[in-house]
Amino acid sequence: MECYLDANTGASSPSSFSLSVTESPQAVSTPDTQRSVLFDEEIAADPLDIGENASPSFIMVVGGLGYIGSHTVLELLKADYNVLVIDDLSNSYESVLHRIQTLAAEHCAMLNKPMPALQFQQLDYRSPMMRSVLASYSSYSICSKPVAVSTMPFPYSALQRTDSGIDMEPEDTPEQTLQRQSRITGVIHFAAYKSVEESIRMPLKYYMNNVCGMVEFLGLLEEFGIKNFVFSSSATVYGEGANCGAPLREELCVHHHETFIDSDGFERQATPGVMGLTSPYGRSKFMCESILADIARSDASWSITALRYFNPVGCHESGLLGEDPRQKPSNLIPVIATVLTGAKPVLDIFGTDWNTPDGTAVRDFIHVVDLAQGHIAALAASAAGRVKAPFRAYNLGTGRGHTVREVHESLQSTSGRAIPVREVGRRAGDVGFCVAEVQRAETELAWKAQKTLRDCSVDVWNFTKGRCPVPDEMET
Ligand SMILES: NC(=O)c1ccc[n+]([C@@H]2O[C@H](COP(=O)([O-])OP(=O)(O)OC[C@H]3O[C@@H](n4cnc5c(N)ncnc54)[C@H](O)[C@@H]3O)[C@@H](O)[C@H]2O)c1
Repeated sequence: MECYLDANTGASSPSSFSLSVTESPQAVSTPDTQRSVLFDEEIAADPLDIGENASPSFIMVVGGLGYIGSHTVLELLKADYNVLVIDDLSNSYESVLHRIQTLAAEHCAMLNKPMPALQFQQLDYRSPMMRSVLASYSSYSICSKPVAVSTMPFPYSALQRTDSGIDMEPEDTPEQTLQRQSRITGVIHFAAYKSVEESIRMPLKYYMNNVCGMVEFLGLLEEFGIKNFVFSSSATVYGEGANCGAPLREELCVHHHETFIDSDGFERQATPGVMGLTSPYGRSKFMCESILADIARSDASWSITALRYFNPVGCHESGLLGEDPRQKPSNLIPVIATVLTGAKPVLDIFGTDWNTPDGTAVRDFIHVVDLAQGHIAALAASAAGRVKAPFRAYNLGTGRGHTVREVHESLQSTSGRAIPVREVGRRAGDVGFCVAEVQRAETELAWKAQKTLRDCSVDVWNFTKGRCPVPDEMET
C-alpha cells in the first residue's frame, strides 16, 4: 500500500500507481506526490531525473509508524526534514500516519512555515519491492568525463540490471557516464521485533527480521549509495554487565578494540564483545551492531550511528501519539496502561529481591519525545562531521534510575486511580539495574534528555484516559 498525504488536509489519497509483489521493479514509476506547500514545485516527477537541479532530500524511516518511530517522524517533520516512512504495520496502525500529519501541520501552521513532505509505503523492509522504492528516489546525472569504475558510487553492473528501465551499455558511453544519486540522505532503522519474552520462545523470528533483514537491507542501501544509517539499538547489548550497579558506559560493549579515558582520567583499552547477553532479542541487537561496526570499518564512507535506548516511556503531550502496539505489550508503562483501562486486572511486578532501594528493578526511563529528538541530534552530528568514527554507539537515557515501584506510584498519583499490583518472580532475561552514562551523547551529539518521570506519567495518562472507564473513587 502506498499513501501520500495532503499537506493541508491530512487526507490520504490513492497514488497513481500501486506496488504489488507481482510487479517487476521496472513497473514502478515515480511516487505521485500530493501538493506539498514547501516542495511541490521541486519534487521531481521522474525517477530518471537526469539533470543538474538538486532535488529535495528525504530521510527514510523504516518502522516509522511504531511507538518510537512515530514520535521521531513527527520531530523530523518539525525540524523541516522530508520523510519517507516504510512500515508493514505488523505492530502499528495506519491511523498513526494521519495523527503525525495533523500534529506536524499544526506545528507548521503555528510557526507560519511550510510543511515538509510526508510519504508512506506499507511494505516489509525485507520485500524485493524495496529496490523499486529506492529506485524511485534516485536521480541520475550525466558526468561529462569518464569516471573510474572504482570511484563510482554503485556497481556499474547494477545500473544495467537496474530498477528504472535504463538500458545502457558501458561501451555506448565512452565520454559520458551516468551517476546515480539518492534523494534519501539518511535512514533511521526502527523496524524490528522487540519482545524479550517472545524472542526466547521464537528466536528464529527475531533473527530473521532483526538480523537477516538488516543485512539484506544494508546491501541494498549500499547499492544505492545510501550510507548514512541510524540504528535503533538497546541497552540490552550490555547484557549482565548492566548489573554492575553503575551507569553504563558505551565502552562496556564495543565491537573492535577501543581506547578511552575512564572516569579517573586513565587511558584504557576496551575489548570487543560483551558478557551475559540475556535473550535472543538482546543478541540480535548486539549482532546488528557488530555487523554495522564491521561494515563501517571496511568502508569509512559509511556513517553509522547506533543509538542504545534505555527505557523509552511517555508519549506526545497531545495524547494523539503513544504506545499502541498490535502485539500484547510487555513493557512496563503500556502494561500499566492496560490495567488503567481495565483490560488487565493487575500489574505484575517481576522480582522484588533485586539489590535496589525497594527491591524492584531500576531502569533509566526516558521520555519518547526526548528520545526522538536524539535521532535528529544524531543526523545533525553526522552531517556536521561531529561523529567520531564511521561506526559510533551512543546511550540515549537520562542518566537517572527509577524503580518499578516509583513508576507505579507516579502513574497512580497522576491518574488518581488505584493500580493493583501482584508481586511475582523475576522474568527470564531481566537485569536488576540498567542506567545510562550519558556523557558521550551530551558531548558529541549535543543532546540531553529534558523530561522527567512525572512528565512521562502526565503524558501517558493523557493518552490513556480517553480509553478508561468512568473514574471510581481512588481506592488507596
Ligand atoms: N520500545 C522499547 O522499549 C525499545 C527499547 C530499546 C530498543 N528498541 C528498539 O527500537 C525500535 C523501535 O521500537 P518501538 O518500541 O517503536 O517498536 P514498535 O513495534 O512500536 O515499532 C516497530 C515498527 O516496525 C514495524 N516493523 C517491524 N518489522 C517490520 C518489517 N519487517 N518491515 C517493515 N516494518 C516493520 C512495525 O509494524 C512497527 O510499526 C526497535 O528496533 C526496538 O528493538 C525499543
